[in-house]
Amino acid sequence: MSYKDKIAQKLQARMAENALRRLTVREGLIDFFSNDYLGFARSKALHTAIQQKEETYQLSVCNGSTGSRLLSGNSALAEQVEKQLAVFFQVEKTLLFNAGYNANVGVLSAIPQKGDTILYDELIHASLKDGARLSFADRLSFKHNDLEDLQRKIKKAKGDLFIVVESIYSMDGDKAPLKEIAALAKQYGACFIVDEAHSTGTFGLQGRGLVYEENLQHEVDIRIHTFGKAMGIHGACVAGSAMLIDYLVNFSRAFIYTTAFAPHAFISVQCAFEMLEQTADVIPALNKNINHLASALRTHSCYIPSSSPIQVLNIGGNDVVKNLAATIQEKGFDVRPILSPTVKKGEERLRICVHAFNTQQEIAALVSCINSQL
Ligand SMILES: Cc1ncc(COP(=O)(O)O)c(C=O)c1O
Repeated sequence: MSYKDKIAQKLQARMAENALRRLTVREGLIDFFSNDYLGFARSKALHTAIQQKEETYQLSVCNGSTGSRLLSGNSALAEQVEKQLAVFFQVEKTLLFNAGYNANVGVLSAIPQKGDTILYDELIHASLKDGARLSFADRLSFKHNDLEDLQRKIKKAKGDLFIVVESIYSMDGDKAPLKEIAALAKQYGACFIVDEAHSTGTFGLQGRGLVYEENLQHEVDIRIHTFGKAMGIHGACVAGSAMLIDYLVNFSRAFIYTTAFAPHAFISVQCAFEMLEQTADVIPALNKNINHLASALRTHSCYIPSSSPIQVLNIGGNDVVKNLAATIQEKGFDVRPILSPTVKKGEERLRICVHAFNTQQEIAALVSCINSQL
C-alpha cells in the first residue's frame, strides 16, 4: 500500500468515527470556548499599550528577530523580559520559548537522560508527551491524580526520576494534588515539573499560577508558563534555577534551532504582564463567573468538578456530544465538543470555558440551554 493509500485510509477511519478534525471559522457567537480567560486577547487597551511601547523602543530591527537567540536573535529587550518574568514568578531565571508546545518539548527532550525515568500523569498535554518521547529516558504514566499509582510507578522506576503534571488539566479543568506530589518528589529525590498553561494569569497572587498559590515555588523544580491562554498573547517561558536555564540554552534543541520571537512578541509579553499587575479586578471577576457556572452545572451527574475556567460535562460518544454542541451553538453560544481520540473513547465531552468578560445573563442563558438538552 502506498503512503497515499495509508493516509486516505486513516482519514476514512476518522470519518467513520465521526471524529474528523476540520478547521472552522464561526463568528458572532458568545464565547464560551476560547482560552482568553481574562479577555486580554480582545483588550483594546492591551493592543494600544503594545503599539505605544513599540514606538517608544524605536528598534532599528523592528519586524523579525533575524535568527536564533544564540546567533542574531538575542537582544537587550529579550533579556530584559526574561528578567522581569523571573521577578514575577520568583525564580532565579526564566527562558522564553516561541510557544508552550516548544517549551514542553524543549524541557522534556533535553533534561531527562538515558537510564532516567519520566513519570507522567496519563492526562498531560500532548506537547509534554511528545517531549518525553524525544528524550532517551524511559517513560511511565500514572493514573490521573492517583498518588498511590504514582508511588507504585516510582518504585518501578530507574535512574533519576522526573515527575510531570499540569497544575490545571486542560481537558478536565481539575487541579493536580501539587502538595502531595511535591512531598513524594522530595521523598524520592525526583525532579518535579509543572505545566502551568491554564493557571498562569488565573491562579495565585496576580496570576502567578497554582504553584505560587500553594506556596510550592521552592518545591517545584521547573514551571512552564504559557502566554497564549489567559495572557491573551503568544509564547511561553520556563521558570527555574539559573543552572537549569543555562543548561536549556546549551542543550534544548527547541530553544536553539529556531528563530527567536520577533520584537513585537517580546513587547507583547511585557505589556500583558504589566496589564495583569495593573488590573486587580479581573481575576476576581473571572472567579465570580467560574463559581456561577460551576454551581449551576454541578447538578448534572456528568459534571467534572472544577474551580478553574475549564468546566466540563462528560457526555460520552462523538455523535452525542457533537449534536449537543451544535444545538447549543444554534442558540448563539460558542461551545465545542471534545472528541475521541483527543480524549479517551467514552469520555467525549462538552468543554466550556468561562471568562471574566462573560456576563451573568450570558451564563444563566447558557445554563438554561444546557439544562433543556440534558
Ligand atoms: C496544558 C497545556 N500545555 C501546553 C500547551 C501548549 O501551549 P501553546 O498553545 O502556547 O503552544 C497547551 C495548549 O494547548 C496546554 O493546554
